[in-house]
Amino acid sequence: MSNFFEEEVLSVQHWTPTLFSFTTTRDSGFRFLNGQFVMIGLPVNGKPLLRAYSIASANYEESLEFYSIKVPEGPLTSRLQHLKPGDRIIVGRKPTGTLVQDNLLPGRNLYLLATGTGLAPFLSVIKDPESYQRFERVVLVHGCRYVAELAFQDRILNELPGDEFLGEDVTAKLLYYPTVTREPFRNQGRITALLEAGKLEADLGLAPLDPQHDRVMICGSPEMLADLKRFLDGRGFIEGNHGEPGQYVIEKAFAQK
Ligand code: A2P
Repeated sequence: MSNFFEEEVLSVQHWTPTLFSFTTTRDSGFRFLNGQFVMIGLPVNGKPLLRAYSIASANYEESLEFYSIKVPEGPLTSRLQHLKPGDRIIVGRKPTGTLVQDNLLPGRNLYLLATGTGLAPFLSVIKDPESYQRFERVVLVHGCRYVAELAFQDRILNELPGDEFLGEDVTAKLLYYPTVTREPFRNQGRITALLEAGKLEADLGLAPLDPQHDRVMICGSPEMLADLKRFLDGRGFIEGNHGEPGQYVIEKAFAQK
C-alpha cells in the first residue's frame, strides 16, 4: 500500500498575492483529529515533494482544506499556488500534531492564538463540536500584519453562526478577535502585547488569563511561540503534550517553501 492518497483539487481561493487556500477530495480511509497536520505535496521529477500542512477542514467534512503562503522561489508553494480544480495532489496517510483536545485539561475558556497561516488548525478546531462541549467560550485570536491578511473572516463571522449543526454553539460561545500590527484597524498590536497588557481579555469582557480556568492553543512563527511560551510559563501555565494533558499546547505554523 502506498504511503499517500492522491486527491483531486476541488476549489482554490486566492486571498492576497501571498496567501491562498484550497480544498480537495478526501479518501474515506483518511482519518484525523481536528487541529492535526499532514504531509502534502506534488510529484516533482518523479518523487513526492512534501511539506507539513495543518488541515483547516473538520474531520467530519467530506473534503480537505489547506491554507498556504506563496513563496515565488519555494520548491513546493511556487507550484502549489498554480493549482486549479481537477489537479491532483498527494496527501500523507499519517496525520499528527499537538493541537488536539486530548492534550488539554478541561477548563472554562479555550484560547486559540494564531499568527499568519497559523490560523489553519484553528479553522478545524472551531468547527469541532467537542470544543463547544468542553468549553464555555472559544476565543479565536488571529494576528496579521495587514487587514487583507485576515483571511476567512466571512466564514467565521457569517457562515459558521448559520451552520445547521454548529450555529447555535458558535453564536453562543465563539469569540473572534482579529488584530493587525502594521496599519490602522479596530484591534491593533501583537498578541503578546495584547495579553501582557490584559487588553485582549478586557476587550472581550473576559477575566484575566488564569491557568486554573483557561486553556490555550498556539500556532505561529517560532519567535511568536517562544514569546508566548515564556509569557504563559511566567503566568504558571503548564504545557501539555501527548500522554500528558496540560494548560496550553503549541505548534509552529509550518513555514512553507
Ligand atoms: P509585527 O508586524 O509586529 O512583526 P509574520 O508575517 O512576520 O509571521 O507576522 C504575522 C503577525 O505576527 C504580525 O502581526 C507580526 O507582528 C506578529 N508577530 C511577529 N512576531 C511575533 C512575536 N514574536 N510575538 C507575537 N506576534 C508576533
